[in-house]
Amino acid sequence: MSLMDEAKSFFEQLKKDTLEAHKKALEGIVNEATEEALEDIENADSLEKVKKIQVGIFGKKGHMTELLKNMGKVSANDRPVLGKVLHESRQIIEKKLEAKIIFFAEQEEELKLQKEMVDITLPGQKVYEGHKHPITLIQEEILSIFNKIGYTVVEGYEIEEDYYNFERLNIPKDHPAREMQDSFYINQELVLRTHTSPVQTRTMDKITPQLPVKIISPGKVFRRDDDSTHSPMFHQIEGLLVDKNITFAHLKGTLLHFLRKIFGEDREIRLRPSYFPFTEPSGEVDVSCGNCGGTGCRVCSYSGWLEILGSGMVHPKVLEMAGYDPDEVQGFAFGLGVERVAMLKYDINDIRLFYENDNRFLKQF
Ligand code: DAH
Repeated sequence: MSLMDEAKSFFEQLKKDTLEAHKKALEGIVNEATEEALEDIENADSLEKVKKIQVGIFGKKGHMTELLKNMGKVSANDRPVLGKVLHESRQIIEKKLEAKIIFFAEQEEELKLQKEMVDITLPGQKVYEGHKHPITLIQEEILSIFNKIGYTVVEGYEIEEDYYNFERLNIPKDHPAREMQDSFYINQELVLRTHTSPVQTRTMDKITPQLPVKIISPGKVFRRDDDSTHSPMFHQIEGLLVDKNITFAHLKGTLLHFLRKIFGEDREIRLRPSYFPFTEPSGEVDVSCGNCGGTGCRVCSYSGWLEILGSGMVHPKVLEMAGYDPDEVQGFAFGLGVERVAMLKYDINDIRLFYENDNRFLKQF
């Protein structure tokens, strides 16, 4: 006969108010059942098994629950006797269950921690920090030099009207200078700008008749060119100063200041007569070779000089078209290639390196 059945028949045999007399027998059965439960709990080898035992005792149909149902059946006098015995047993079993559950929970936590353990003695993973592209770096450096002497940075359009890219710069439709800049046309009126010079006229249009116009303008330009020193897309920076009493000396002084800031205070510059339709007179500016100091070497093709930018006094027609009176105001302008400056400054011999995103190249800057 199982303990449960034994307990049931025990209660069936009870007569009213007789429990006190049978207290010993009752205690014997309950104690034995309690011992058995404690042993089962002790032997349980998993949390799952402990929970199962818990349900078997205290669950809806658990042994203890069944026994407690007798509370209603016994007389009021017997009730405290039964209550005390059952309550004691209940406390003992619950305590044991709790201890066992905590034991397994701790064991599980320990396993989890072991699994998640980080070996702090392992070397860390290197974090690679990004940085600016060499073209961006040079561009920012150039803009900052001009910013410090009062030039405002403005930006133009990469897709430009033929009118601003050419006509307004004194380059009419049949002008041979258009061939100097083999262009990407989008349609008859629109072109990928071949230089940053259209920003000159767009800016003057906005500002006229106010003075001075003093701007520096960086950006991408596009030409049908592709070799080790020419790329179909490259970067230019345009400068323009328009005011009263501006002379060629202002142009030369400004460029000397700029080129010494960017290449070094020991550099010299020279201006060679040149031709651009939008400047008159025009000058090509060379800077003394930093590699040989001007005596001649491989870098400067043994001339001692490096070609660096185009410049000149703003053509009267360009001023006039923008609404300024060329008898009253003058201006100078210049345009330079950012890649060219970067190549000279860092001794890079192929322009295509700037666009290939080869990290071995980029990480050097
Ligand atoms: N726009 C010319 C070019 O791309 C460069 C240039 C020359 C710009 C003379 C100027 C200038 O502003 O005065 O070749």
